[in-house]
Amino acid sequence: MIGVFDSGVGGLTVIKPLIEHFKSDIIYLGDTARVPYGNKSRETIIKYSIENTRFLLKKGVDFIIVACNTASSLAIEALRNTFNVPIFGVVESTAKVASNFSSIAVIGTKATIESNAYKKTIKMFNRNAQIEQRACPLFVPLIEEGLINDEITKIVAKRYLSGINAQTLVLGCTHYPLIKHVIQDILPNTNIIDSGTSLIHTIDKSMFKGSGKVEFYATDSPENFSKIGKFFLGKDFNSVKLVDLEE
Ligand code: SIN
Repeated sequence: MIGVFDSGVGGLTVIKPLIEHFKSDIIYLGDTARVPYGNKSRETIIKYSIENTRFLLKKGVDFIIVACNTASSLAIEALRNTFNVPIFGVVESTAKVASNFSSIAVIGTKATIESNAYKKTIKMFNRNAQIEQRACPLFVPLIEEGLINDEITKIVAKRYLSGINAQTLVLGCTHYPLIKHVIQDILPNTNIIDSGTSLIHTIDKSMFKGSGKVEFYATDSPENFSKIGKFFLGKDFNSVKLVDLEE
């Protein structure tokens, strides 16, 4: 059983390929009461990530996937120092796939970009790579508001992405795959890499096998989670359970 956590519904874009390709058994926790993580301090992101992991381990998961790019960037080391189970972060797998290119642009939340986690990890795999990074703090709220095809999102995206001419662009946030079409329209010749696809290409696939049983937990309104989550997962789902991490 895989334990996956994210700051909210965005991580559903990471489990989507796991469910579709491997019928993985997953317990997913969306910390919707405290989303977004991308504008919080390192200390807070670590505290939240430890609480999320503790909850998933109590549910009996064998290992953890940190689906949130912000938590992967800032908390992965603290989690590995605290818990004695394998912990995978999306930054490592996405950086590995990106490192096959020589010029790379990375977009993400403010915390992810300021941590330089992508830059450092890509350099470990390809030290000659040219890397440009940009924080896109308005993308998460626009996507959370459902403004996926709205003019405002196109205007903001044009502003954020202007002048990028790298071979490949890393979507360094689990929300961004939902506006991939907007981004691709602005950068038609750029290869785009996302966390969900990168994960299934880089982790030992035998770890993903299962019967396709998925349990969803959220720290705020389960109704909102399934209402917004269906856009991220690409299908309807319900039976999301409300959880209090301080219990
Ligand atoms: C956020 O919580 O701010 C976005 C999630 C992510 O960084 O992937």
